[in-house]
Formats: sequence, structure tokens, C-alpha cells
Amino acid sequence: MKSWCPWASLLLGAVLCGAVLVRGAIAQAPADAERGRAVFTEKHCARCHVPGGLPGVGPALEKLRTPQGAYELTGRLWNHAPAMFTVLKQEGIDWPAISAAEMADLMAYLQADPKGDPAPDLSKGRMTLISKGCLKCHSFRREGGRLGPDLAERRADYAPASTWAATMWGHTPRMAAAAIQQGMMFPRFTGDEMVNLLGFLRTGAGAP
Ligand code: HEC
Ligand code: HEC
Repeated sequence: MKSWCPWASLLLGAVLCGAVLVRGAIAQAPADAERGRAVFTEKHCARCHVPGGLPGVGPALEKLRTPQGAYELTGRLWNHAPAMFTVLKQEGIDWPAISAAEMADLMAYLQADPKGDPAPDLSKGRMTLISKGCLKCHSFRREGGRLGPDLAERRADYAPASTWAATMWGHTPRMAAAAIQQGMMFPRFTGDEMVNLLGFLRTGAGAP
């Protein structure tokens, strides 16, 4: 049960998980979809995602605001970062920083909920860690690259999903720069790959 703490706690109330959950709850006010709407505009999302959609610019707002898993949405956000990165750079706009609290609001606005994520498949998660190229730059239990931190370190940002999404959002421009130097393709996530990867990282790192 230890490793499914956030899922279990969301289903059963905050009783099961103790310190980690309580800390998360104090650090972040409950997610709010209305604040999320404002975040969506502030962070430039509304430039490309409008009701009904704009041809060639980005999927319609309605398509984004649809019930989905929270780690699944993290995968979707990860995927479209390079396209967004390029356009913002062309327009001379800085990559928008998104805090964990803002990300939680954004997730509420886009109807992403951890209850919508399937249970992670840990062995698939291990394969994902390798196939997405994370180990080209990171080590896991000291095996792999040396550019970024060891991913088996106990990290406070693997959960909740909004914190992880915010970390990955900040990671994108730095990772993109390193990837370009190495001639590496930016990996894409599909389906439950992000769910599985995080499930594996969290247990592999001995995180609660
Ligand atoms: C410069 C234009 C642009 C901006 C700004 C932008 N997006 Fe996107 N977005 C796109 C495009 C184009 C796609 C589809 C192509 C892709 O996935 O690579 C997309 C896809 C997505 C998807 C996946 C949709 C799906 O059905 O899989 C999500 C979720 C999303 N964007 C959210 C956001 C959020 C949140 C922001 C603000 C933080 C944002 N976008 C800012 C252009 C943009
Ligand atoms: C092309 C190199 C590269 C790849 C590939 C890469 N990263 Fe990173 N990552 C970095 C670098 C460099 C840093 C540390 C520098 C920084 O965050 O400023 C980093 C930092 C991180 C951090 C810490 C971020 C923080 O803010 O503390 C995490 C977590 C992380 N990466 C996870 C991943 C995962 C998961 C993957 C695979 C899906 C991955 N990285 C793929 C280069 C990479």
C-alpha cells in the first residue's frame, strides 16, 4: 500500500498517508478551477487554445478540458513543450514558469484528476525510463548519465501529480538545450507511459 499512497488517499480521504500528504495539503490550497482559468491565460496557453480551435495553432479548448488522469495530462504537457518552446522563442517570450500550486489549479481547470489515472505497471515503467532516454542524462541508482540528478534519489517532487508536472514543465527548456547538444530527439509520452514511469521511479527511489 505504501507506494500507492496518493491514489489510496484520494480515494479514502487523507487518513492513510500521514506526513507526506499532510505536508502537501499545507503547502497547497485546494486546487481551484476558476484560478486555473486565470493561470491558463497568464501562461500564454489561451493564445493557441481557444474555444472551437484555430486551424494549425492548437487543439480546441474543449478538447483540452476533458476528464483525464493527472499524470496522463503531465505526459500531454510534456509532449507539446517543444512546439510551444519554439513558438515562444520566435516571439521573444520567456518560457512561463508554473508553480506546483498554479499547476494544481490548471489541472482542475482542465479536469485532470489523479483518480483518472490507471494503477501503474512498474515493469513497463522501468522500460519507459530506458526507452525515453532519461538515462542518457540521468543515472538511476548510479547507472547512466551524469548531466542531471540520480532519479533514484528520494525526491519530493514525484507526487502529487501537479508537483511532478510543474517540475517537468521547468525541466523542459533545460533538457531541450542538453538534448539539442547531444543530437537527441525529444521523447514523446503516450497513453499511460507517464503513469508507469512515475510508479516505477517512486518505488525505485523508495519514496512513499
Ligand atoms: C504556441 C502555441 C501553443 C501554446 C502557447 C500552448 N499550446 Fe498546447 N498545444 C499546441 C499544439 C500545436 C498542440 C498539439 C500538438 C502537439 O501535441 O505537439 C498542443 C497540445 C496541447 C495539449 C494536448 C492535447 C491533446 O489532445 O493531447 C495540451 C493538454 C495542451 N496543449 C495544453 C497547453 C497548456 C496548459 C498551455 C499553457 C501552459 C499550452 N498548451 C500552450 C500549441 C500551444
Ligand atoms: C538531454 C538530457 C536530459 C534528458 C534526456 C532528461 N533530462 Fe532530466 N535533467 C537534465 C538536466 C541537465 C537536469 C538538471 C539541470 C536542471 O534541472 O537545471 C535535469 C533535471 C531533472 C530533474 C530534477 C529537476 C528539478 O527541478 O529538480 C528530474 C526529476 C528529471 N530531470 C527527470 C527526467 C526524466 C524523468 C527524464 C526522462 C523522461 C529526463 N529527466 C530526461 C537533463 C535531461
